[in-house]
Amino acid sequence: MELKEKINLEKLPQHIAIIMDGNGRWAKQHGEPRIFGHENGVRSVREVVEAAAELGVKYLTLYAFSTENWNRPQEEVIALMQLLVHTISAETKTLNENKIRLQAIGNLNSLPEDCFNELHDAIEKTKNNERTTLVLALSYSSRWEITNAITNIAKQIEDKTLTSSEITEDIVNANLCTAGIPEPELMIRTSGEHRISNFLLWQLAYSELYFTEKLWPDFRKNDFYEAILDYQNRERRFGKTSEQLNQNNMAGQ
Ligand code: FPP
Repeated sequence: MELKEKINLEKLPQHIAIIMDGNGRWAKQHGEPRIFGHENGVRSVREVVEAAAELGVKYLTLYAFSTENWNRPQEEVIALMQLLVHTISAETKTLNENKIRLQAIGNLNSLPEDCFNELHDAIEKTKNNERTTLVLALSYSSRWEITNAITNIAKQIEDKTLTSSEITEDIVNANLCTAGIPEPELMIRTSGEHRISNFLLWQLAYSELYFTEKLWPDFRKNDFYEAILDYQNRERRFGKTSEQLNQNNMAGQ
């Protein structure tokens, strides 16, 4: 039986988030410059986007460039930006053919103009697609996002459109870049690192975390299916006991 067929489509995560890590180490293993790893990472991006759309995963978020990545050597930053621009514009047609909507989260105003324009263009051209939403986290960091949300909320209080006693989790959610996007049930990180690295800190509160040794350029559809199967074998308790969950399940039957 193929791995894909083992997946229970009734228990599919609605939202999967991925920290694509290990491009640099992969390139080093191949005796090539770091950008070679990023270039080969594009194939893995294609594979997981296609796999997510085929299965019917509603949201897929990829951490493509963090706020901290701006501190990398200038030539790597420029090459990575060019790769992003090139990939986004080259893939827009395929996104449309597969009914995939593109969105982006992060400090998008800090992107180079051509990258921002290509991104904006692809978001516009794919905005009516409804099968899967691909969210690219670009110039993104969770602390930046949360700080931004606090500033927005403070402004609303200053403007008297909100009072401090009205602040709820829903208000915080509405002021994050991910407003309207369900929380990821599953977060995957490749390359054997066991960290969250400033990615969706608020949104991952109850997510299942899956770590694999595979370096991102080696990540294929079967690796994605394995992560989903691992998730489906876990019990998500949200702070409750196993017994409480079993009672609720029995009551629902
Ligand atoms: C992390 O590996 C990877 C990145 C910072 C960039 C990911 C970008 C791509 C795969 C390019 C295309 C993406 C899209 C969405 C079109 P690393 O460089 O930190 O690897 P290392 O930890 O081995 O050094």
